[in-house]
Amino acid sequence: MTQTIAPTDHDRLLIIDFGSQVTQLIARRLRELNVFCEIHPFNVVDEAFLADFNPKAVILSGGPASVIDANSPRPPARVFELDVPILGICYGQQVMMEMLGGKVERGHGTAEFGRAYVTPEAEKLDLLQGWFTVEREQVWMSHGDHVSKIAPGFKVFGTSPNAPFAITADTDRNFFAVQFHPEVHHTPNGARLYENFIRLAEFKGDWTMSAYREEAIAAIRAQVGDQKVICGLSGGVDSSVAAVLIHEAIGDQLTCVFVDHGLLRKGEAEEVVKMFRDNYNMPLIHADEQELFLGELDGVSDPETKRKIIGKLFIDVFQKHAKEVGDATFLAQGTLYPDVIESVSFSGGPSVTIKSHHNVGGLPEKMGLKLVEPLRELFKDEVRALGRELGLPTSFIGRHPFPGPGLAIRCPGEITRPKLDILREADAVYIDQIRKHGLYDEIWQAFVAILPVRTVGVMGDGRTYDFACALRAVTSVDGMTADYYPFTHEFLGETATRIINEVPGINRVTYDITSKPPGTIEWE
Ligand code: XMP
Repeated sequence: MTQTIAPTDHDRLLIIDFGSQVTQLIARRLRELNVFCEIHPFNVVDEAFLADFNPKAVILSGGPASVIDANSPRPPARVFELDVPILGICYGQQVMMEMLGGKVERGHGTAEFGRAYVTPEAEKLDLLQGWFTVEREQVWMSHGDHVSKIAPGFKVFGTSPNAPFAITADTDRNFFAVQFHPEVHHTPNGARLYENFIRLAEFKGDWTMSAYREEAIAAIRAQVGDQKVICGLSGGVDSSVAAVLIHEAIGDQLTCVFVDHGLLRKGEAEEVVKMFRDNYNMPLIHADEQELFLGELDGVSDPETKRKIIGKLFIDVFQKHAKEVGDATFLAQGTLYPDVIESVSFSGGPSVTIKSHHNVGGLPEKMGLKLVEPLRELFKDEVRALGRELGLPTSFIGRHPFPGPGLAIRCPGEITRPKLDILREADAVYIDQIRKHGLYDEIWQAFVAILPVRTVGVMGDGRTYDFACALRAVTSVDGMTADYYPFTHEFLGETATRIINEVPGINRVTYDITSKPPGTIEWE
């Protein structure tokens, strides 16, 4: 059975997942309301699980199945006997109706995908406080089947042209069922529904980062005792916050290993080492392994080969330096909640490997280490909030993500030291421009890629034959999809001029306007 990880004295909300693409968003909306919730796939939620989890409210997610099909996913009937408020969304609504005595039918002209409008019935519903201040509420629908008869005890509170039972409720039992998805952006007033739902369920709203900090520290102390912990520090937000939190819990029992593979940005190694060693007085091994990595990468152009080499060397080097710590029993990792959900999801993760992402996976087994993962319950923005709570500098917390293989995947073709130096300089100018124009926080990630072509130019009275580079900047919420950032022409022109003037070795600048998909964020 999937273990729940939250400290037990929080009010807890259980989201039973039927495989909707947007289940994670439900959890996001609730966490924003200071409610602790966990997502668990329907097939692990049985009576024993419910007793153990002891939810104060339950949400049944959407999902791709049809309740009409034999063997379609169900929650245990026990869920309706817990005497707690329940909200069924889309498939969750249909399964609820079916199990409680209503009826669901196949689409045939009643399917609805995309924007729809719900109008209210005469009777008011507490769940809908703050709704219908306009004549009709915009919602996001995505359903083939529809409820054709509601279960005994339910009444209708909202209808849409193709969903006469768009909002229904059994107010005696605090059971609510909606055909649309209140968690998505395209249901603009959706957050209000969640707010009302948790108010009706009498949640205290006790999930705050300062409370979490205290609990996590106590949990780390209990788990680790007087043993030693090692932590791979990449300079990224997740591993940094994990390190600072663990250090606060166990002090010098923690040693961090920072591997400098020679593929870092300008000044990055110094910045990270200074911050952790000087500001936090944390035991830190600064492993300067540039020769090793760049040596092994010499002459390699294939992106996957680069990734494989870096991934393997990283493990070797980490292992070598971890030995210096002596008898460490634990390895700390900055695993986040979305990774946890992905790994337990019954529908599984992505099926095609687009890129071999580099991480320290495989290390714990190889080294016989146990894991400490204090961020396992958190979403990225919660990690940032925790970082602020722990006093990490805002500029550090707001940093754009940086990939494990570093500049190697921003240098298509062969990687050479001169190219890396040029790339570092150009990247520094570009990021400086973005910061100066106050755009850094609007952008998910921005960087320069140095292209494996040289082009002819003219500077002063002379001919140049230097590298071309591409600027990349994207907006995204999770890195899974992305759009290019719409800089003004003035910004692009000014930046190109600065790079060409200030960075010897580059004489042409282009801007990458590919979204993801079809592109990826990184160039390799
Ligand atoms: P792509 O290029 O796949 O990138 O669209 C999506 C996000 O993931 C980051 N990325 C990585 N992060 N190890 C990491 O830790 C990797 O191997 C890796 N490859 C890509 C990328 O920077 C972007 O934020």
